Amino acid sequence: MEIFRTKSVEQSIRDTEEPEHQLKKRLSAVDLTVFGIGVIVGTGIFVLTGQVARDTAGPAVALSFVVAGVVCALAALCYAEFASTIPVAGSAYTFSFATLGEFPAWIIGWDLMLEMALAGAVVAVGWSGYFTSLLNTVGVHLPTLTVFGLEVNYPAMAIVALLTVILVLGIKLSSRVNLVIVIIKVAVILLVIVAGLFYVTAQNYTPFIPAPKSSPAVQGLGAPLIQVLFGITPVAYGVIGIFSAAAIVFFAFIGFDIVATAAEETVNPQRDLPRGIIGSLAICTFLYVAVSLVVVGMQPYSRLSVDAPLADAFRAVGQPWIAGLISIGAIAGLTTVVMILMLGQTRVLFAMCRDGLLPRVLSKVHPKYGTPARITVIVGFVTMVLAGLISLSALAELVNIGTLFAFVVVSVGVIILRRTRPDLHRAFRAPMVPLLPILSVLACFYLMLNLPVETWLRFFAWLIIGAVIYFLYSYRHSMVARFRSGAPR
Ligand code: ALA
Repeated sequence: MEIFRTKSVEQSIRDTEEPEHQLKKRLSAVDLTVFGIGVIVGTGIFVLTGQVARDTAGPAVALSFVVAGVVCALAALCYAEFASTIPVAGSAYTFSFATLGEFPAWIIGWDLMLEMALAGAVVAVGWSGYFTSLLNTVGVHLPTLTVFGLEVNYPAMAIVALLTVILVLGIKLSSRVNLVIVIIKVAVILLVIVAGLFYVTAQNYTPFIPAPKSSPAVQGLGAPLIQVLFGITPVAYGVIGIFSAAAIVFFAFIGFDIVATAAEETVNPQRDLPRGIIGSLAICTFLYVAVSLVVVGMQPYSRLSVDAPLADAFRAVGQPWIAGLISIGAIAGLTTVVMILMLGQTRVLFAMCRDGLLPRVLSKVHPKYGTPARITVIVGFVTMVLAGLISLSALAELVNIGTLFAFVVVSVGVIILRRTRPDLHRAFRAPMVPLLPILSVLACFYLMLNLPVETWLRFFAWLIIGAVIYFLYSYRHSMVARFRSGAPR
């Protein structure tokens, strides 16, 4: 069927060589790893750890980070193989175009927009929360701004606008800004680990896995799908609690997949992409496990704070200045998360426009800066409006489901591409194919089942809107279709 027409790997790579649509190749393996850490370490570790330890996993939250890390590692190996075979901007979108066909690729691209634009806005709102609270502690109180009865979150809009300018000016500049901020962020995390060790009490680790306790079942659309389908009542703590918590702290790992979106801008993508993806994931997993172990050792898990668990743990042991430093680190950390989410979003859109699935004129690269400036401004504007006007906390779960869906598709794609194109040079080969990608699919699907029914409904609604746009516009404007019919490009 036409909608399953694929774009050959060779064609994808040739497209990157068109002068008007060419991104500059400037990134190394170290740049990519720093990029990865820049987008991965954020709200997940700075905020979610406390809530999850308190309500779902107890001190065993460290094990939840291990579980989520393992699920991500399975998917990361699949991403690494793909990225080393098809080093083209667009990540999961490009990979699906080469394997599953145009329509599935479009759906994935559409799905990635959900992941990145929404996550960017959510994290920008979180950023403004930390920023305003830090200003408050030094006595500066920002006035609220109301337009047509709507409260406008202008600090969030301002940070998005600033980051948009940085992204337009060039990816090398963005990666320098990122490097400085990542150093601050990692230093703060290491500070938590080292300074926190002095306040750890062995007593706080017993019981390490608290006895399971059935929590009141959430009813209606807010209930996890697994509960509705199989009648399983949610249980807090115990071994099951470790796994439920893993579905939530999964958010902390989102971002390593975005390293793959910078494929085209990497000097030696075949070698460096797998290193960047797996390296950043490994470093973050280590940091998360260490931080969570220290934090649950500092305070009884039932007393951890929900809003700022890392900072508040130090306040609780009488070290407010360390708490202040942690807040600054969190602000810096969230800044790079927003920036790279936006960067990933522009690269996926760039690839979709270049393929004609969205207006092709948008994918022109800026002659001086070498970046897809038009798309960057559009993405910046949309993210700014979302961040400024809407409180998105409830929609954050959509980010998780969208990302997990992309992981599933990429894992399936690895198996398909091994069958259909065994001849391709794969600088990095995922081990144990097809077993490993199958495990990856099952693990991601299990985490998806733990998300609420309403999240699934919103997710389907988004996909339906995407399908309508595909049939009204993209299907007819696709470059692959034009190429096949012999029409000029
Ligand atoms: N992993 C990113 C975070 O924790 C999205 O904020």
